Amino acid sequence: MRKIIIAIDGYSSTGKSTVAKKLANALDYVYVDTGAMYRAVTLYGLNHGFVQDSLDTKALIEALPEIELKFKPNQSLGKSEMYLNGKNVEKEIRDMKVSENVSQVAAVEEVREKLVELQQAMGDEKGIVMDGRDIGTVVFPEAELKIFMTASPETRAHRRYKELLDRGDEVTFERVLKNVKARDYIDSTRSVSPLQRAEDAIKIDNSDMGQEEQFERIYNFAQRIIQQD
Ligand code: DC
Repeated sequence: MRKIIIAIDGYSSTGKSTVAKKLANALDYVYVDTGAMYRAVTLYGLNHGFVQDSLDTKALIEALPEIELKFKPNQSLGKSEMYLNGKNVEKEIRDMKVSENVSQVAAVEEVREKLVELQQAMGDEKGIVMDGRDIGTVVFPEAELKIFMTASPETRAHRRYKELLDRGDEVTFERVLKNVKARDYIDSTRSVSPLQRAEDAIKIDNSDMGQEEQFERIYNFAQRIIQQD
């Protein structure tokens, strides 16, 4: 059967990773969360003092060859986790501190070049579902199926707030909403690969749509393409 590349882009906390994971499971494809890669570089910068109130871009660029990123499967959880220089950082990269600094790191051209190259290599054999911000526009402009997900900032902040509370973080809803809006602004106005919908991407606004309905829709789109000769 024909294998394809599925690119899922969109704003933060639109449920991209939930639907992408489910899709990859159903199709027996590899799932790649590219946001985790930008988050891991940010964590490295925070740990080494390049990312503080302001970003030391030069130091970060010089450190890039020392940053090794790998996804390794966690059999008991049935998903892959992010390793930074051999250490599992899956939980740390979701901290608020990382969320508050990742957009400025993701705006650095050299960081994007390194990560895009790694991402393109992962799609060599197709059979992949990748989520991020520039997958359908830059990483795989030739992807057979492109989805662009969106929802109101308030809906997204509520989802994120709940996730953070569930994992025991102490945050306020206002701080989360502020971060969602700030990331939207930086991600969509940066000069390198800004977040934008590819012309041929299917837009899904899931402000009032359940996870199951989103999954069914995208799965049906994928099946239609996979069945084509
Ligand atoms: O999907 P996420 O919220 O975990 O992504 C974290 C940040 O990384 C997001 O604010 C923008 C950036 N990002 C990016 O610029 N390009 C990608 N392909 C994925 C994420």
